[in-house]
Amino acid sequence: MFNPKKAAAAAVVGACVLAVLPSHSASKQQLERGRYLVVRASMCIDCHSPMDAKGNPDPARAMQGAPTMFKPIVKVPAWAETAPALAGLVGYTDAQIVRALTAGIGPTGNPLRPPMPPFRFDKADAEAIAAYLRTLKPAPKR
Ligand code: HEC
Repeated sequence: MFNPKKAAAAAVVGACVLAVLPSHSASKQQLERGRYLVVRASMCIDCHSPMDAKGNPDPARAMQGAPTMFKPIVKVPAWAETAPALAGLVGYTDAQIVRALTAGIGPTGNPLRPPMPPFRFDKADAEAIAAYLRTLKPAPKR
């Protein structure tokens, strides 16, 4: 028989469980937002993916890391030669990625070097990007 007290208790327990679920249980909406930012809006994909034979970022190796494909014609100190592999976020915590994308600080506390743009995403967008990157196929071990 329906017991309103028990039902209320169950609802409270349910709400608590939802509240403490880890942030990396990504919703479909969050993943779509992350994909939109990475693939279409911010062109992360262009720098962080190896190129195919036609010089386009290879979708089969999206975000698996690549050498920087251009050099500055003016002197830029600390130019980075490589855009690191981020597919699957192997060896990264979500917090490291969120800090990189909201504050421009790398995983070891270093300011990110050019040509990595000094992004200032808000926390929700940075978390969506991290959630999306986790879903990508990691680069094969070298
Ligand atoms: C114009 C090229 C370019 C674009 C566009 C770009 N990146 Fe980068 N990114 C780099 C380079 C180069 C580095 C390495 C910087 C360094 O070594 O300090 C880097 C570093 C990073 C790092 C730090 C990784 C580490 O191990 O230090 C993260 C995280 C990152 N990029 C995420 C992104 C995301 C997400 C986007 C899109 C929103 C993006 N990048 C767009 C070139 C780019």
